Amino acid sequence: MLRTVSNALRFSTASSFAAQSIPVPIHHHPHHLTHTHIHTHTHSHHPASTSLHHHTQLQLQQQQQQQQQQVLSSQHIFRNAVLSAASKSVTPISLRTLFEFGKNTSPKTLVLASQFLHNELPIRLSHRIVELENLPFGLSEMPSVKTVHGLYVDSFRLIHEFPKIRSIEDDLKFTDVLDGIKTRHNWVVQQMAQGIRELKKKIGADILGPELQQFLDRFYLSRISIRMLIGQHLALHALTPEERRQAMQTSGFVGIITKDCRPTHVAEDASRHAKQLCDTNYGVAPKVKILGSLDTKFTYVPSHLYLMLFELIKNSMRATVETQRSQRLGVPQEEMSQHLQQMLLRGEKLPEWLYDDHEYPEINVIVANGQEDVTIKVSDKGGGIPRSALPVLWTYSYTTAKNNDAVTSSVNGPSGSGSSLFDPSPSRGQGNTDRIAGYGYGLPLSKLYARYFGGDLELKSLESWGTDAYLYIRRLADHEEDLP
Ligand SMILES: Nc1ncnc2c1ncn2[C@@H]1O[C@H](COP(=O)(O)OP(=O)(O)O)[C@@H](O)[C@H]1O
Ligand SMILES: [Mg+2]
Repeated sequence: MLRTVSNALRFSTASSFAAQSIPVPIHHHPHHLTHTHIHTHTHSHHPASTSLHHHTQLQLQQQQQQQQQQVLSSQHIFRNAVLSAASKSVTPISLRTLFEFGKNTSPKTLVLASQFLHNELPIRLSHRIVELENLPFGLSEMPSVKTVHGLYVDSFRLIHEFPKIRSIEDDLKFTDVLDGIKTRHNWVVQQMAQGIRELKKKIGADILGPELQQFLDRFYLSRISIRMLIGQHLALHALTPEERRQAMQTSGFVGIITKDCRPTHVAEDASRHAKQLCDTNYGVAPKVKILGSLDTKFTYVPSHLYLMLFELIKNSMRATVETQRSQRLGVPQEEMSQHLQQMLLRGEKLPEWLYDDHEYPEINVIVANGQEDVTIKVSDKGGGIPRSALPVLWTYSYTTAKNNDAVTSSVNGPSGSGSSLFDPSPSRGQGNTDRIAGYGYGLPLSKLYARYFGGDLELKSLESWGTDAYLYIRRLADHEEDLP
C-alpha cells in the first residue's frame, strides 16, 4: 500500500501537493454525487445509453473516491513520516570522521555514505520542517517562510521516498538527488531574510526578539550542517578514486576538507576579493598585512574559513575607509557620499588622498598557531564600535549600511547565477554581489560557521580607534558538529 501510494506521488512535489485542491470531500455520499451528475445529463434521449452512462459514471465516481482516499491517506502517511523523523535525534559527526572516512573511499564505501545520508538528512530536515510550522509572531505564515517550508518538505520527500540504497548505481542516483536538493536550497538564507522583512512590515516592528534570533541561529546552523554533509558527499563523488588519491597527496584534500588548510593563503584570497569589492564601492581599498605564524596549517574546510575571513575583512575595509574619510573631511559618515557628490557638482577638485590606498591605515590579519585553537585576529583602525552597540552586531539584518533593501532584490540571485551570497563556494569570491555591506548577515553567519566545528568569533572594540575580531578555530578536528 505504502509503496503504491508513494509511487503515485513520487512526481508530485510537496508544495503542489499541499496546494492541490481535493475536488470532493471524502464524506460525500456517492449517490448524491451520481445523482447530481445524472441530473445534468437528462438531455440524453436513449434510456439504455442513460443507464450505461450512469453505470460508467458510478464507476468513475468510485474510482475518483478511491483515489481521493489514497491521496488523503498518503498525506497522512507522509505527515507521519515527517513527525517520526522529527522525533529522532541527529547524529553529529566530527570533521575528523568525515575526513578519515573520505580518505579511503571506494565506490563501495560511498554506498555506505549514501546510506548514512539517506537516514540522517530526513532527520535534520524534519526538525526544521516542524520548527518552521511553529514560529512565533506568525512568522510561519509569511509567504517567503512558506516557500522555504515547501522546499524543506520537497527535499524531505525526495529523500524519504528514495528506495533503500543497495548498489553503486543507487548511490549515484541518490547523489544526483542530493545535488539537485543542494542547488534548490541555494537562496534559503535570503528567502528567510525576506520572510523576516515581511513579518517586520506586517507587525510594524523593526526589532527581532531573542526568540526569533535563536530560531534563526538554529535554522542557519542546521542549514550549514546539511550543506556540509551534502557538499562533502558531492565532492567525493566528483572525482574518480585515482583523482581522489592524487588530491589527497598533492593538496591534502578529502572532499571539501583538507589537512593542509593554510590560513595565510585563505586570508590572501579573501583580502584580494574584499579589495576588489571595496574598490568598486569606494574607489580605494586599504592594504591588508598578514602576520604571525604564516606557515600554520591544520585540518579544516577552507571554504568555511574563506567565508568568515572575507566577511571580517570586508567589514574592516568599510570601517577603515568610511572612518578615515569622515575624520579627515570632518563630515559625518552617513553624509559622506552626498558631500562628495556636491563637491563634484560644484566643480571642486576631490583631494588626491581620497583615492590613494596608502592614505588609509592597514588592516592586520594575525595568525596564531596554538595547540588547541588556531586563532586569527582581524584588526583595523576603523574607528571601532560603541560598546553599547556590540551585542546588537550579532542580530540578523543589523547593519549601519544604507539600502538594506538589497536583500529583497537578490532573493532569486543576481541574474540567476544559482550561487548564494552566504554559501562557501569552491570557486571563491563567486556568488557575491558587488555590495560591500548592507545585509547585516556577515557577522552572525560567520559566528555560526565558526561555532559549527567548535570554534567561535568575538569582537572587541576600542571606540574611536578600531576593532579587533577574534576568530577561534579548533585545531583538533575531533570536535563534533555543534548542532541545534
Ligand atoms: N570592523 C568593524 N568596524 C566598525 N564597525 C563594524 C565592524 N564590523 C562590523 N561593524 C558593524 O557591524 C554591522 C554589522 O556587520 P555585518 O553583520 O557584517 O553586516 P553588514 O556588513 O552587512 O552591515 C556593520 O553594519 C557595522 O556597523
Ligand atoms: Mg559585513
